[in-house]
Amino acid sequence: MIIGKPLLSTEEIQKRVRQLAEEITEDYQDRELLAVGILRGAFMFFADLVRHIRVPLKVDFIVASSYVKTETTGEVKIHCDLREDVRGKDVLLVEDIVDTGLTLSLIRKKILEKGPSSLKVCAFLDKRERRVVDVPIDYRGFVIPNEFVVGYGLDYEDQYRNLPYISIFKKSI
Ligand code: PRP
Repeated sequence: MIIGKPLLSTEEIQKRVRQLAEEITEDYQDRELLAVGILRGAFMFFADLVRHIRVPLKVDFIVASSYVKTETTGEVKIHCDLREDVRGKDVLLVEDIVDTGLTLSLIRKKILEKGPSSLKVCAFLDKRERRVVDVPIDYRGFVIPNEFVVGYGLDYEDQYRNLPYISIFKKSI
């Protein structure tokens, strides 16, 4: 496998994450936020984002998966659900990448059924060329081309999540 030069450098990522956190801070003044990370991919973005948000905040997580190697199975599995009761809460879903949109769409629907006071989405990467279902993204880090990327939480067969930048991943033949 080949990891090319960074598509997004650590510096670009950190700058954008701070900007997103500032937007969120402004929008949620005088409110308490429940930030929900969609694992595993969102762990690094989530940790960086919440440390720069300056409103009262609780965290919770959902563990979901649908990809095998570079392909989606089309079936989203929820391995571990929320611990918090979201009813009446201002929920911010935090996702590392929106590709087909299937994962986010399913999780949004499940949370909305539980009656939060509001539900917004913050996605670090938007690979919009690949979208199959329409999902609203309220805070977006970067729009990226239709390439398989790894790093900053994103994996190929669970490797490369620890890279502090985003790279295009190509399999060598
Ligand atoms: C990835 C990623 C998103 C989802 C996006 O998760 O973290 O949750 O796919 O793809 P979609 O828009 O096509 O649904 P994955 O299934 O690889 O699990 P992971 O988070 O554990 O890496």
